[in-house]
Amino acid sequence: MLDISSLACSYGRVEAVRDISLRARPGEITLVLGANGAGKTTMMNAVAGLLKPAAGTVRLGEEDLTGLPPHVVVRHGLALVPEGRRIFGPMTVAENLRLGGYLRQGARLREVLARVHEMFPVLHDRRDVAAGLLSGGEQQMLAFGRALMSEPTVLLLDEPSMGLAPVMTDVVLGKVAELAATGLGVLMVEQNADAGLDIADQVVAVARGSVVYSGDAADARNHASVLRAFLGEAALAPAAESGARDQGGEA
Ligand SMILES: Nc1ncnc2c1ncn2[C@@H]1O[C@H](COP(=O)(O)OP(=O)(O)O)[C@@H](O)[C@H]1O
Ligand SMILES: [Mg+2]
Repeated sequence: MLDISSLACSYGRVEAVRDISLRARPGEITLVLGANGAGKTTMMNAVAGLLKPAAGTVRLGEEDLTGLPPHVVVRHGLALVPEGRRIFGPMTVAENLRLGGYLRQGARLREVLARVHEMFPVLHDRRDVAAGLLSGGEQQMLAFGRALMSEPTVLLLDEPSMGLAPVMTDVVLGKVAELAATGLGVLMVEQNADAGLDIADQVVAVARGSVVYSGDAADARNHASVLRAFLGEAALAPAAESGARDQGGEA
């Protein structure tokens, strides 16, 4: 289990994360909701070791990973799919995956690659294609695949549906649900709150760097008005709360 406790991070005098505590359990999807600038990416980057927290702890199982560099964090079983994917466009799909699997060699590497290809057949079909030529959805699959090459126990996903058409968002979030069903813990930031809630087990809402709500995903639907008040633009569609659609009402 990933256990984040009282995390705080600053950029100079800007306190981007003030106080975030949350847990991500194996086989569960923990959804992080929050408006733009709430501190979600900062939190994810601090957990992945890309930023040093000013305070708080990041633990994975028995290990204290607080402030360790990214390559050490990866070795302990945490893998980040960063905001904006950050795949290497000029390199082929296969080369991108190879980078993610740098900890593995020989038969083990082939085994892990085969599993990634099984989960994302398109990465096998397009293995020799420059990653930059893939569609947005395919690039997101590649970013997932690259992260999975390190055989994580917890996957950190920062806005996996960003820039994707609704139909591709469904495909990508469907893959997230499949991954969690294999026992992987998933900590996911997602602006598309409704689509995220459909697959999430737990929800944590963040505003101005602090946790303002945390509970079961099923409960969060009942607290939609609370979430809306905190999250503004990133809020749930009104229909998600009442379950009754107001058809033909005033525009
Ligand atoms: N590299 C940076 N330098 C200075 N301020 C930053 C930097 N990255 C983010 N911030 C600020 O930190 C706050 C949180 O940003 P971020 O973590 O990206 O939020 P979110 O992912 O929730 O949209 C914002 O006020 C943002 O302007
Ligand atoms: Mg962000």
